[in-house]
Amino acid sequence: MKEALFVDCCIRGEISRTARLARAFFHALGGYHVAHVDVEKLDISPLGREMLQKRDTMTEAGNYEAPMFDLAKQFASADMVVVAAPFWDMGIPAKLKTYFEHVSVSGIAFDGETCMGKCRAERMVYLTTRGLDIPDGDEQEQATPYLKALCRFFGIMEFQSVSCYGLDVIPSEEGEKRLARAEATAGELAESLEDL
Ligand SMILES: Cc1cc2nc3c(=O)[nH]c(=O)nc-3n(C[C@H](O)[C@H](O)[C@H](O)COP(=O)(O)O)c2cc1C
Repeated sequence: MKEALFVDCCIRGEISRTARLARAFFHALGGYHVAHVDVEKLDISPLGREMLQKRDTMTEAGNYEAPMFDLAKQFASADMVVVAAPFWDMGIPAKLKTYFEHVSVSGIAFDGETCMGKCRAERMVYLTTRGLDIPDGDEQEQATPYLKALCRFFGIMEFQSVSCYGLDVIPSEEGEKRLARAEATAGELAESLEDL
């Protein structure tokens, strides 16, 4: 069975609105085993000098046995990656950026010589909610361009997203309607992927 990697950065947990989109997506997704990474709970730090030197020494020696490579191996071997994350500070939460620093390993996620992607996944799905009235494609929306760039670097050719915006600035009833529509869209997207 194919594997979907659920990169869950719904930091607010149960009350997360983004998590509602993720639940709708996975409820409708068939044909995949789902591996869940709870980014909020990961014991990871941004790459500092010491860690980077240690990592470079190992990758240059072709030694990928250390646990520090586990997240990268898991990411690179998934058939599909599903990222669920709220929109923070016009981009992604820092913990998710840190996760990608740990995934983006030369020799695992990309080839250090050719800079060609080495990830198996054909597709990334990005699920998000935003507080302000910032639609997809707005210049203030820097999460999607960043994730698309990463996908290209990792060799993941397809990128699809479901977003819901304005949730902190519109009346809650209207927000609930928007969220319900986005949940339906997430479910339809998942159904469309089942046979691919
Ligand atoms: C730390 C933090 C930073 C945020 N930054 C932004 C922002 O830059 N732009 C925006 O539109 N909303 C911003 N928001 C609002 C969230 O995007 C919005 O409430 C979203 O629906 C939260 O998703 P969640 O319910 O899954 O946590 C921010 C919220 C938090 C907690």
